[in-house]
Amino acid sequence: MEWFRCPVSAILLPVCFFLTFLIFFPLRKQNHLTHFSPSFVVSIIKENHTDTTNITSPSPRPPPLPLEFLSNFTAASYETYNNTSAIKKLTSLEKIEGGLARARASIQESILSRNYTSTNTQYFVPKGSIYRNPHSFHQSHEEMLKRFKVWVYKEGEQPIVHDGPANDIYAIEGQFIDEIDNDDKWSHFRARHPEQAHIFLLPFSIANIVHYVYKPIRKHSDYEPIRIQRLVEDYISVIAHKYPYWNRSQGADHFLLSCHDWGPKVSYGNPKLFKSFIRALCNANTSEGFQPNKDVSIPEVYLPKGKLGPPNLGQRPNNRTLLAFFAGREHGEIRKILLNHWRDKDHDVQVYENLPKGKNYTKLMGQSKFCLCPSGYEVASPRVVEAIHAGCVPVIISCNYSLPFSDVLNWNQFSVEIPVEKIPEIKTMLQSVSRNKYLRLHMNVLRVRRHFMINRPAKAFDLMHMILHSVWLRRLNLKLIGSK
Ligand SMILES: *[C@@H]1O[C@H](CO)[C@@H](O)[C@H](O)[C@H]1NC(C)=O
Ligand SMILES: *[C@@H]1O[C@H](CO)[C@@H](O)[C@H](O)[C@H]1NC(C)=O
Ligand SMILES: *[C@@H]1O[C@H](CO)[C@@H](O)[C@H](O)[C@H]1NC(C)=O
Ligand SMILES: *[C@@H]1O[C@H](CO)[C@@H](O)[C@H](O)[C@H]1NC(C)=O
Ligand SMILES: *[C@@H]1O[C@H](CO)[C@@H](O)[C@H](O)[C@H]1NC(C)=O
Ligand SMILES: *[C@@H]1O[C@H](CO)[C@@H](O)[C@H](O)[C@H]1NC(C)=O
Ligand SMILES: *[C@@H]1O[C@H](CO)[C@@H](O)[C@H](O)[C@H]1NC(C)=O
Ligand SMILES: *[C@@H]1O[C@H](CO)[C@@H](O)[C@H](O)[C@H]1NC(C)=O
Ligand SMILES: *[C@@H]1O[C@H](CO)[C@@H](O)[C@H](O)[C@H]1NC(C)=O
Ligand SMILES: *[C@@H]1O[C@H](CO)[C@@H](O)[C@H](O)[C@H]1NC(C)=O
Ligand SMILES: *[C@@H]1O[C@H](CO)[C@@H](O)[C@H](O)[C@H]1NC(C)=O
Repeated sequence: MEWFRCPVSAILLPVCFFLTFLIFFPLRKQNHLTHFSPSFVVSIIKENHTDTTNITSPSPRPPPLPLEFLSNFTAASYETYNNTSAIKKLTSLEKIEGGLARARASIQESILSRNYTSTNTQYFVPKGSIYRNPHSFHQSHEEMLKRFKVWVYKEGEQPIVHDGPANDIYAIEGQFIDEIDNDDKWSHFRARHPEQAHIFLLPFSIANIVHYVYKPIRKHSDYEPIRIQRLVEDYISVIAHKYPYWNRSQGADHFLLSCHDWGPKVSYGNPKLFKSFIRALCNANTSEGFQPNKDVSIPEVYLPKGKLGPPNLGQRPNNRTLLAFFAGREHGEIRKILLNHWRDKDHDVQVYENLPKGKNYTKLMGQSKFCLCPSGYEVASPRVVEAIHAGCVPVIISCNYSLPFSDVLNWNQFSVEIPVEKIPEIKTMLQSVSRNKYLRLHMNVLRVRRHFMINRPAKAFDLMHMILHSVWLRRLNLKLIGSK
């Protein structure tokens, strides 16, 4: 519960916002949803689709193979939504599905040939052990740049919709919406018409809802997630009546992005409605219903006012005199354990609840070999990205946290995971990391840094692209028309 962070000077939400939405939200029938075995997936990839666009299809077609795509999820689940009555009119969907089929095929091919077909050779090329499969990732990113189109629903008014915080710990909500929701910005990925879209964004900011709607807070019961749930469900009701897109897929090609702790609560009130919906969340807590195959884990990024990241004060490995560093409040159980064990106790493992005057947080990260990143009130911590920026190897101390971008990144190559019950052993565990292993981890942190950088405008392979790529992968894993 981070609500106390919000400044009190907030503008009150115009209550009429609610009235623009339908209050009554009917329960909808579930359409037929088929799960196919991996062999069916392969047959889809091999199949010829109606080709009304002129994108050269990859040739030769890859032979059948176990679909060991970027990670397990593609092989494990491939869902076809086959409600013919809902999609009969939508011939442009065939075009879209044809393009996706070609993207899948070229990614398959890159896995086989360990190569990629680049349309733009200036780009950085992913290489090395930090990637699960650098070839397929590269090809998939290429295909995303070439094809992926997002429709941002225009309904709703600022500041709840089409807006979000641009700094502080939930900054990614505002930065992402601002980039994708403006004609003059990330225009490359914007669909000009919903018929062209692969994916539909509900441009909510949960941080803004909490900021503007949850006022005044007089008693604990004023602070219930039901308000968030109603807002989002009413919005879905509006767009599902007005357009055919939600109904044709039951929301499976729709997503929402939230970094606020409460992001997951959006779907609690009506799990059936959100069954297939993609939630891009910082709070990617699998024991709270986060589904790594369907949902997207996004990093939490703390942005100082007017900046896109902290200054780079990272030292070379030889200059890193501290073994480990943490500073932060006693939020949540894990931090309590960490602080109880290590607060102000050890010179090599410096753990603070309040950083003493004169000490500089960013500088200390730059002087530490390892940076402790325990969960707080949500599983994600902005320290992971801060550590990566500072060239400090992140030490993940969490429970049931699905790490961001793990479809494509090998986290064990640039971070260390320490289970909560091993917190007392942090020092011995980190000391036992050999110098060579440490140097490798440190080098990999520097390599992975570009994927955790925010650029405005966004640049290929940066954090915004990584988020969108995670959404793209989930869309690739979906087929909205049954085979013909
Ligand atoms: C398919 O979608 C249409 C239009 O949204 C809906 O009326 C119908 O009930 C759905 N069919 C099934 C079998 O769920
Ligand atoms: C698929 O397309 C190729 C080339 O256009 C053609 O030779 C082949 O017969 C087609 N296969 C099917 C099953 O339609
Ligand atoms: C697509 O390709 C065909 C044959 O190569 C050509 O006749 C047609 O004009 C092209 N269509 C478009 C929209 O470029
Ligand atoms: C992928 O799936 C296989 C078998 O289903 C399993 O053994 C393996 O651990 C999975 N890998 C990951 C990274 O989840
Ligand atoms: C990979 O692609 C490049 C350029 O397209 C080509 O020069 C190279 O020979 C290819 N390598 C393999 C192993 O196919
Ligand atoms: C979508 O489904 C809902 C509930 O079944 C229905 O009320 C609504 O009219 C449908 N929307 C469209 C565009 O058909
Ligand atoms: C959550 O973590 C605990 C402890 O690591 C584990 O026992 C449990 O199975 C996990 N639950 C889920 C849903 O991943
Ligand atoms: C490393 O530390 C020394 C002594 O504190 C300092 O003079 C030097 O500039 C540092 N190196 C870097 C790369 O910051
Ligand atoms: C730490 O020092 C750097 C460089 O001197 C400065 O830019 C930054 O604002 C400082 N950070 C904090 C948290 O004081
Ligand atoms: C993750 O979810 C579980 C189950 O709701 C909860 O007990 C745990 O505190 C959550 N973790 C964090 C860091 O919030
Ligand atoms: C989709 O529905 C049509 C008509 O109901 C049916 O003939 C076809 O086999 C279905 N396809 C799949 C993949 O379920």
